[in-house]
Amino acid sequence: DDSLSQLAARSGRYFGAAVRIEDILAEADLRGTVLRECVSLTPEFALKWDAVERSPEAFRFGPIDDLLSFAVQQGLRMRGHTLLWHGSVPDWAQAQLRSQRSWTLVQRYMEAVLSRYRGTIGQWDVVNEPIETGYRMDGLRGSVFLEAFGPDYVVRALHEARRLAPGAELMINEFALEADSKVESDRRYHFLKLLERLKRAGAPLDGVGLQAHLDLSKGPVRAVVYAPFLQDIAGLGLFIAITELDVKEYDYAQPVDRRDRDVADATARYLDIALAQPAVRGVSTWGMSDRHSWLRVTLEDLARHQGSWKDGSTPGFNRGLPFNSSMRRKPMYHAIANALQHA
Ligand code: G3I
Repeated sequence: DDSLSQLAARSGRYFGAAVRIEDILAEADLRGTVLRECVSLTPEFALKWDAVERSPEAFRFGPIDDLLSFAVQQGLRMRGHTLLWHGSVPDWAQAQLRSQRSWTLVQRYMEAVLSRYRGTIGQWDVVNEPIETGYRMDGLRGSVFLEAFGPDYVVRALHEARRLAPGAELMINEFALEADSKVESDRRYHFLKLLERLKRAGAPLDGVGLQAHLDLSKGPVRAVVYAPFLQDIAGLGLFIAITELDVKEYDYAQPVDRRDRDVADATARYLDIALAQPAVRGVSTWGMSDRHSWLRVTLEDLARHQGSWKDGSTPGFNRGLPFNSSMRRKPMYHAIANALQHA
């Protein structure tokens, strides 16, 4: 039967996943699954500032170079995640940005990365989670970029990226825009305002990444709310990529088959809405398998459920990705396949 990428291609879309090169190289079952299902890879950590330049001018490009040569050899594309994220600025750079407020530091970093990967990485999350900082303009130390340069750092970064990587697609990538809640509806409002400001300012913005970290505790995504949001983005002439799809559970005490069905249902519901929007270019999950999900069940979760694991499932894992820890397809896999097939 068709792979997720082959099903995505039926509607002119792609399917991909976030990976870490160390896992890809070490685990043949993961490597085989990624090669079968994906045409796009996103580095989960290695292409962030705090992974690339742990200390000034000491660049660590090895892991990215390795992942890129794996991708190129296998005919896969790689997403450039991410140039500027307030959540991944090395401590030494945070200190310098806060004290000197010098854009040169940012420019030098962007130049080092974009010149190295010009022509091989064709799409960049130039700024990750800009409204998280912009929205929290209440002075919280949300972002060193916001503190050092004000909200215009987003436009500046986009112009810098266009200058340094003229042929690449430039995006901004955002989270917590999916749920039918006051907070996330406010965030959708602020995000659209930011996009409108950027377009009015002539910022070289080509597309938008919607992370889509779904969360069962927030209830289902509602089409009547989310479809118009997607249409508003598309109406600005921007393409959309679903960049980090996974599902956070909250009731780990349920039997595994019930947990897996809830995750699959939330995925199906979300993708049916997202894939009805022609501007959506493709879908990436934030990992392939529960074996390597950032959504570890926290120790607090474990403490809360101590002893109440009914089915002996491994309590250490959230089960929010298409494959389980043994690299077997889960109901979520079939939910994605079904949504792609009928898009
Ligand atoms: O590789 C080092 C290792 O050498 C070191 O011993 C260890 C202990 O410090 O850290 C390891 O790096 C960790 C890395 O993940 C491993 O891949 C970093 O500490 C840890 O901070 C990093 O977490 C990543 C996080 O972003 C912060 O970069 C997660 O894997 C990753 O899933 C998460 O992804 C983000 C997206 O980029 C943006 N959207 C939200 C998403 C989830 O937070």
